[in-house]
Amino acid sequence: MSETLERWGSRRAFILAVTGAAVGLGNIWRFPYIAGENGGAVFLLVYIVFVLLLGLPVMMAEIMVGRAGRRGPIQALGALAAEAGGSRHWRWLGAFGAFTVFCILSFYSVVSGWSIEFLVASINGKFSGATAQEIGAGFDAFLANPGLLVFNHTLFLVMTMGVVAAGIAKGLERLNNLLMPLLYLLLVTLAIYASTTEGFVPALVWLFKPSMALITPTVILHAMGHAFFTLAVGACALMAYGAYMPDKQSLPKAAAAVAVLDISVALLSGIAIFAVVFAQGLDPTQGPGLMFVTLPIAFSELPWGAAWLSVFFLLLLLATWTSAINLAEPMVATLQGAGMKRVKATMAVALGVWLMGLLSALSFSSLADFRPFLGRNVFELVSSIPPDIFLPLGGMLIAVFAAWVMPREKAQEALGNSGWGFYLWLNIVRWIAIPMTFIVLLSALF
Ligand code: PHE
Repeated sequence: MSETLERWGSRRAFILAVTGAAVGLGNIWRFPYIAGENGGAVFLLVYIVFVLLLGLPVMMAEIMVGRAGRRGPIQALGALAAEAGGSRHWRWLGAFGAFTVFCILSFYSVVSGWSIEFLVASINGKFSGATAQEIGAGFDAFLANPGLLVFNHTLFLVMTMGVVAAGIAKGLERLNNLLMPLLYLLLVTLAIYASTTEGFVPALVWLFKPSMALITPTVILHAMGHAFFTLAVGACALMAYGAYMPDKQSLPKAAAAVAVLDISVALLSGIAIFAVVFAQGLDPTQGPGLMFVTLPIAFSELPWGAAWLSVFFLLLLLATWTSAINLAEPMVATLQGAGMKRVKATMAVALGVWLMGLLSALSFSSLADFRPFLGRNVFELVSSIPPDIFLPLGGMLIAVFAAWVMPREKAQEALGNSGWGFYLWLNIVRWIAIPMTFIVLLSALF
């Protein structure tokens, strides 16, 4: 099959592609608002511990399985399980991953659509001179307009699926190369600017001085879910990328580099956003609108604010774009593995995600009171359950597969790390990552 032959053009291309998958709305939009709702610094602390002890080792496991299998996730899991004498049912893990990313992409596309709207608005100078209240009210009015939300959701999905249909390696490499560093630079600039404002010190206290009394099972569950979400781990999406990884590249180093970069993007964006929250007396627990309300305020105070803001939303959009492409890939790879042509598979996925996304888009207007489960509407459900439950569950199963089912020599070879590094990884996955994820998930059940 030709898909097994494709490889990323270079080592750098692989790291950039995985970074592209990891860095997205999760860092810049989701991290600040989830941290805001979950006590700030305690959340950050638990989240970083989980990234290091769970997210990173499981990420290595996931990419490793992809690299060992050199196929789409379902086929890779099936073939590797058969080779190891394990059950063929491991293939279902690939299907579960595809279902998870389906749910995630449906709301991801809607929120990315908000960025499109905000990009256009900032280019038109709509935020210049607006007060914090006006910007907040404008955002609420925007959410209540289903036509606009659906339009932008559609636009974003077309953009994403266009690249996917063309084949990932070609579409992504060059884009990632250029954009990631620019986004990073802009966030650094913004954080430096934040350090000159009066909100800076309270923001640092809020983010870095944990009050342990605030640790609750909910905070722990959200921190775990976000650790998987932000690293793009647990849905076999990175497995699909691992299949294209060059043989010689060190997997642990690549994964660690991505994790560090990913955390630092979240921190920079957290600092920039909370500095505004505290300078303006806004509510850190206000939810999904947090970034969309605070950053226009922050930029409006800078010289050439409207231009900076436009650049910011452009880069954000491109970062979410590369994440969305990664979200779509396992679904397309799955259908392709089942014998569908790539373009057809892409169109089928696009249609499904678009329809499901409608429910999220309308959750802010006509479907606001449609609350099928746990008293949450569709947007609230798909933006919480798949990241908080499905990703950790999938990640845990991937870890079980990598550390218990795959033969050691095979795992070691695909991880590309000889000696103690491999045993360190193996033991962390076996005795820390798997049991810890299991316990947190179990406690969520009760
Ligand atoms: N990591 C991406 C983000 O932070 C989201 C994502 C989750 C991408 C799962 C792929 C798989 O925006």
